[in-house]
Amino acid sequence: MESNELRRIFLQFFKEKDHIIIPSASVMPENDPTVLFTTAGMHPLQVYLMGQPHPAGKRLVNCQKCVRTGDIDDVGDPTHLTFFEMLGNWSLGDYFKKEAIAMSWEFLTDTRWLGLDPEKLSVTVFAGDEEVPRDEESANYWREIGIPDERIYYLSREENWWGPAGDTGPCGPDTEMFYDTGKKPCSEACRPGCHCGKFFEIWNDVFMSYNKKADGTYEKLKQHNVDTGMGIERTVAVLNGMQSVFEIDSYAPLVKRVIKLARIKEQLDQDQQKAIRIIVDHIRAATFILGDDKHLPPSNLGQGYVLRRLIRRIIRQGNLLNIKQQFLPELAHLVIDMSKETYPELQRNKDFIIKNLTQEEQKFSKALRRGLRKFNQIFKEKETITGEDAFLLFTSFGFPLEITSELAAEKGIFIDLKVFKEEFERHRELSRQATAGTFQSGLADHTERTTRLHTATHLLQQALREVLGDHVEQKGSNITPERTRFDFSHPKTLTTDELKRVEALVNQKIKEALPVSKEIMTPQEAKKQGALGFFEERYKGKVSVYSVGNFSKEVCTGPHVSNTKEIGNFRIQKQKNIGVGLMRIRASVD
Ligand code: ALA
Repeated sequence: MESNELRRIFLQFFKEKDHIIIPSASVMPENDPTVLFTTAGMHPLQVYLMGQPHPAGKRLVNCQKCVRTGDIDDVGDPTHLTFFEMLGNWSLGDYFKKEAIAMSWEFLTDTRWLGLDPEKLSVTVFAGDEEVPRDEESANYWREIGIPDERIYYLSREENWWGPAGDTGPCGPDTEMFYDTGKKPCSEACRPGCHCGKFFEIWNDVFMSYNKKADGTYEKLKQHNVDTGMGIERTVAVLNGMQSVFEIDSYAPLVKRVIKLARIKEQLDQDQQKAIRIIVDHIRAATFILGDDKHLPPSNLGQGYVLRRLIRRIIRQGNLLNIKQQFLPELAHLVIDMSKETYPELQRNKDFIIKNLTQEEQKFSKALRRGLRKFNQIFKEKETITGEDAFLLFTSFGFPLEITSELAAEKGIFIDLKVFKEEFERHRELSRQATAGTFQSGLADHTERTTRLHTATHLLQQALREVLGDHVEQKGSNITPERTRFDFSHPKTLTTDELKRVEALVNQKIKEALPVSKEIMTPQEAKKQGALGFFEERYKGKVSVYSVGNFSKEVCTGPHVSNTKEIGNFRIQKQKNIGVGLMRIRASVD
């Protein structure tokens, strides 16, 4: 059974049960600032689970592309993935537990569908706690279907409760279905949910009838919903009796190609196997993120930073395997070819995918080589790597902290992140970083040019607001020494006249030689003073507010020039519509 076949029959089965097939949503959620990526099929359906009528009706089914990076460090074992496809069926206030369980069972065991041996299936149900009672109802339906008591397990909220996807929203108890691979139990306590590889979770039916509120309490939803999820990769592996997801059709050709690129002739050792798994998982994730119609490039912020991390990890693992040539575009072409029929956006956005991977690989391979040399030199001299060393590698060699940490961990060294952060504080005029690994301002480095562009970006935002209106809000920004890229909310392409006026206003403010000043205050005070700042919630404690004369005021981490006359001549290079209500401007200074 291949992935395409499983996807096809799943959709077919639920179509026969009066479900409407809906397309996969974007891998980057719309209007949901609490999570960076779509992590489950229910994610884009949250408002409908809360009660808003879905245009396609009350019974839906689809295959959703998902990205989950929470377990990124576990990738390399037989089952963990950062990208996967999730099959799911939904009842929006229509059928509930009994029908959902009956349908799951039919699909899993009927020979017209998967035809799995019922004896090898076991299930878990929610054991109940002080807030929500034990789900005896589901357990009883399983009994009626024929599952004996010894294969029905009652588990706690930690294991048998799903959601919400973000901090608040629809959630509920679930019942999960496991396939026994026949392996020996790892211990007496081995049971479904154990990660030893004996039991494979293949399906999760969530009975979404609660809403988690901001204060942490749960309220009953108006309607009873069902939300299910079946990971294609795991299920295909189970159906084919494979030991890992990396043997299935969506990875096997990639694995083969990496082995060829690395010129490995003999049996893989464990390190090689792990490196290959990381590469093939991450290249699939990176290709699907870049292949999204939203055209998100790698950057130092949020989703773009996750993407950058994935790409850098591929390059680093390629280096471990001694792959000398550029190899990311080649692997991405394979991913695109394997998946473009189901996900035509990959073909549509092929040039964007390949261009960005090529550029990142060129840039980072160089930094990696230089950084590795320095890392090894330090390690040879001192036999350890300290927080200060990590900081030096970061600032002088562009070597990301997480790569240094990974390298150190391979040598059994734990880098003291506190020291790294203290170094950062000491060099705060050079750079600021709130949490290790994530820049808050979209700066790639801190050369004088980027500083000039950074201040120019503040002027640009204010100029856009004056010319177009106060609906303009920063949605993202990325600055390199060559240019600033500024994403903002605005419903349509700017006219030539508007662009000219914005550019002229910025240049006028530069000519006025306005002083740039910084004040430290609480976020509340900053808000009161009308400072713009769209990442406010990320700042803890006090914030810096940068004012450019009386023209612009923004919460920001700097750095900035001290007077606008240092900026030079500001030029808008191009604009682009990058999504519904979202525009992008590129500009430079000279
Ligand atoms: N939303 C549920 C899950 O992801 C079905 O497991």
